[in-house]
Amino acid sequence: MTSVNLIGWKWRRVLGALLICFMICDLAYCHKDAQEQKSPGRKAKSSKPKVGKAAHKEPPAVKTKPKIKAPAQAQTLLTQVINRGRFTKVGETLKVQVGDTLELRCRGKPVQWGVPSYLEEDDEGRLRMVQNERYGVLTLVNSTGADTGEYTCYPMFCEDTDCRKDYDKAGKVFVFFTDPQELFVPSSDYYEVIQLRTNWPTRLPCQVTSPEAKVTLHREYPPVEVEVDGTEISFDVKKGFTIHRPRPYHAGALYCVASLGGLRQSSTKYMLIYVNYPMAPPAPVIQANASSVATGDNLRVSCTVTGERDVAVDITWEYPGQQMGRPPYTLESIRPLGGGSARHQTQSILLVDEVRDVDQGTYTCTAENLQGSKSVSTTVKVLPAKVKPRKL
Ligand SMILES: *[C@@H]1O[C@H](CO)[C@@H](O)[C@H](O)[C@H]1NC(C)=O
Ligand SMILES: *[C@@H]1O[C@H](CO)[C@@H](O)[C@H](O)[C@H]1NC(C)=O
Repeated sequence: MTSVNLIGWKWRRVLGALLICFMICDLAYCHKDAQEQKSPGRKAKSSKPKVGKAAHKEPPAVKTKPKIKAPAQAQTLLTQVINRGRFTKVGETLKVQVGDTLELRCRGKPVQWGVPSYLEEDDEGRLRMVQNERYGVLTLVNSTGADTGEYTCYPMFCEDTDCRKDYDKAGKVFVFFTDPQELFVPSSDYYEVIQLRTNWPTRLPCQVTSPEAKVTLHREYPPVEVEVDGTEISFDVKKGFTIHRPRPYHAGALYCVASLGGLRQSSTKYMLIYVNYPMAPPAPVIQANASSVATGDNLRVSCTVTGERDVAVDITWEYPGQQMGRPPYTLESIRPLGGGSARHQTQSILLVDEVRDVDQGTYTCTAENLQGSKSVSTTVKVLPAKVKPRKL
């Protein structure tokens, strides 16, 4: 019964979030037309290729050599192969023209590669990884803007057949596949729903394909440019915008605009939904109204959680008679704590009628909120009927 409650509770939350989303989305679509006129560079999202399909995009007619940004600080593991036999050390970032081939070499035997997740899932034979005697080679042909992201090489430490990645020694490079037509990495979705959590920085990825693009953040309604001061909200060309301490007023529909040369384009829309996040996992307190109960008497075990208001807590039980299908029932209640405090109390009471031998043992209650869960237990002893001790 309690587990059914749990599912119901979770679904209600999800449905609630979706409802809010649809309301916002409706708003968003109303304003879409107006927006489209304002930024002529924008393409209707529906005509944009699905990320996976982007691989089919025709490479630019004129093929040029990959342009390489001067390495900021050279790495020891990774090198870029430009032409057969010519290598360049790579810095933190690298620029490759869309359609060109990316070839990276990484010292180590063996090495493992990490690529942007979309490439991992949706490879169409363009990505190849080969291990040579002393180094690994990653080759990506017919590149697209969607390939933009972090490429990592992990040297492996092996004992017999047991290998593990050495995360500390990993070589990383962020590769921009510059696309003269698409300033943003194409996305398969028209909009993306992002939770703004009270205690977590929120990221709006709006990944650009060129590090030179000037990126600004905009609110759809009212239509304003959002100030990016570097403290409350900051921008990183590899990560997008980060809202460091989300507040309810950050919620709404936002999007990014990138400009480069004469081109100006809008990103996918981000629907930011504010979620009141608890500061910590709940701290339940369990109490049985008697530590020993006579057969035939009733038992009452309560589990109480005091926490922030507007933060849902879910309580589940484990008890001795559970496997035997013993049907105790629970009473749930939520009440505010008086005195103008912003706290409330959630309580679940487990009632066992006419206690039997199988009810002896450990009673555990688990309280869960969005931040985590905690379990507490108490034990109950069952005594023969005629002893009838009065305790507690
Ligand atoms: C790369 O593009 C060329 C020219 O469009 C095509 O012939 C070739 O099959 C593509 N290679 C891969 C691995 O997709
Ligand atoms: C414990 O609670 C149950 C149910 O409310 C009640 O029947 C029982 O008498 C209580 N036991 C004691 C020792 O208070």
